[in-house]
Amino acid sequence: MAATPPIFDSAFFRSALGRFATGVTVITAEHPGNAGNEPVGLTISSFNSVSLDPPLVLWSLSRKASALPYFLHAERYVIHVLAASQLHLAKRFASGPQSGRFNDVALARAPGGTLMLADNDTAAWFECHNLTHHEAGDHVVFIGQVESCDRSFSQPLVYHAGDFDLTPSTEPLSDL
Ligand SMILES: Cc1cc2nc3c(=O)[nH]c(=O)nc-3n(C[C@H](O)[C@H](O)[C@H](O)COP(=O)(O)O)c2cc1C
Repeated sequence: MAATPPIFDSAFFRSALGRFATGVTVITAEHPGNAGNEPVGLTISSFNSVSLDPPLVLWSLSRKASALPYFLHAERYVIHVLAASQLHLAKRFASGPQSGRFNDVALARAPGGTLMLADNDTAAWFECHNLTHHEAGDHVVFIGQVESCDRSFSQPLVYHAGDFDLTPSTEPLSDL
């Protein structure tokens, strides 16, 4: 049986979804440009775990995002879980032309060669093979198979009710 039409509007739906506190990630990849490979990156909070064995994660990208074609074709990408101290990166990678987002940002390579942010504060990072994607309404859901990862003891950046939540302590976490 088909779903019944929603009895709420988009703004209310968005507001209700915003009650789910999330972390914040920046996802980076590369695409072929005129002068060699060019970096591409964006701020994403729709990240989540899917499977431990095999190690799978998911995230979703708006079909309106200019970076969509790059991520559809990328073989690999790196998902960086941001620390509270990396609020500037969350803002930097959420808007503006892709060309300016990497200005003065230190870069490195994950073990599999994928472009990533070189910042020891990053709470965790996951280098993913771009396993599959599924069109779902106005977003595309990406499933990544994690090939390498690492984590630090930085406090994570939290996003809640449409804003960054800076109340958590910035004291480092103890080992898990
Ligand atoms: C905290 C935060 C979380 C976001 N999460 C998502 C997300 O999960 N999916 C998405 O498509 N856009 C998300 N965005 C918006 C994208 O970062 C933004 O649309 C993107 O950087 C546009 O870049 P592009 O047009 O160059 O692709 C988020 C923005 C912020 C500030």
